[in-house]
Amino acid sequence: MKILSIETSCDDTSIAILQEDQVLSSIVYSQKVHEAYRGVVPELASRDHEAKIIEVLEMALDASNTQINEITNIAVTQGPGLIGSLMVGVNFAKGLALSLDLPIIPVNHIHGHILSPFIGIPKEVIEFPHISFVVSGGHTFLFLLRNFLEYEILGHTIDDAAGEAFDKSAKMLGLGYPGGPIIDKLAQDGNPESFTFSKPNLEGYNFSFSGLKTSILYRVQKEIKQDENFIEKHKNDLAASIQLSIVDMLMKKLNQAIATHKPSQISIAGGVAANSGFRKACESLEATKKIKLFLPKLQYCTDNAAMIGFSAYHQIRDNEIFDQKFQPFAKFSVK
Ligand code: KG4
Ligand code: ZN
Repeated sequence: MKILSIETSCDDTSIAILQEDQVLSSIVYSQKVHEAYRGVVPELASRDHEAKIIEVLEMALDASNTQINEITNIAVTQGPGLIGSLMVGVNFAKGLALSLDLPIIPVNHIHGHILSPFIGIPKEVIEFPHISFVVSGGHTFLFLLRNFLEYEILGHTIDDAAGEAFDKSAKMLGLGYPGGPIIDKLAQDGNPESFTFSKPNLEGYNFSFSGLKTSILYRVQKEIKQDENFIEKHKNDLAASIQLSIVDMLMKKLNQAIATHKPSQISIAGGVAANSGFRKACESLEATKKIKLFLPKLQYCTDNAAMIGFSAYHQIRDNEIFDQKFQPFAKFSVK
């Protein structure tokens, strides 16, 4: 089995080649055109996917020393994501599958993130039930996994995603895009106790980050009135305090889920799983709660096609039947 997988749900054009569950190559082209807007512009994203996808395919085949006629399965992200971006990947995948006469597997992007920490880990090592925390620029989901393919949503955000909270905070501070990694870097030299912001706490396992965003905005606006150089002078401390607030909000719900479901293993995934503060806080659970933690490799935290191929592998292994006439979808339905 050689899977060619395609991911174009947002602003990364990515193609990977897998042999069974082993990643042979994973090429990610991250679009630059959005930087000037400090946020993803959907129309520009679709156009850039279209412009780059052939080149990314050639690079993925070259890097894995694979000829296109060795491929046995095509996998593609079906959703959720930006509909125009998804359509580029899905149509490209359908075209490839038709011309090569291969089966095509539609993959849920979130399922790809869920499984991303398990890439490169022997299947037998993963224990269920397992708590999986997907924290990215578009999503914040706490899941209870029953096996590789079945999962239950414990909680989700009712407004902004955690990555969005990082990005919007960075925008308020006049930093670049995406703001998460920039805040993470600045926070290394800041004092996280310097500023306190309000951290809304919803009942159950749901999250809300919009109150935090407002609290940061009001504080910064108030301080700028007294000193127009406030942000520049306190950049590191602000970044460290914002990071701690977001990480605290995430850890509160994760701890609550662990207390209720008592899993022996947990994993975190998505772009925010690359955050050093969040990784450290999760790592400390290994010692305090005797839980095994799975972290994705850094290149599998943000969007990538390797996780899409990996999800397809598990679906093929389970003999799932695939509908070849599927269409992309923008939203992940939360029951
Ligand atoms: O998973 P991803 O590539 O895209 C979505 O599916 O949403 O995640 C991108 C998000 C952005 O919001 C970015 O700011 C955030 O992940 N991110 C980080 C870090 N690296 C990426 N946030 C905090 N700290 C980081 N080191
Ligand atoms: Zn993602």
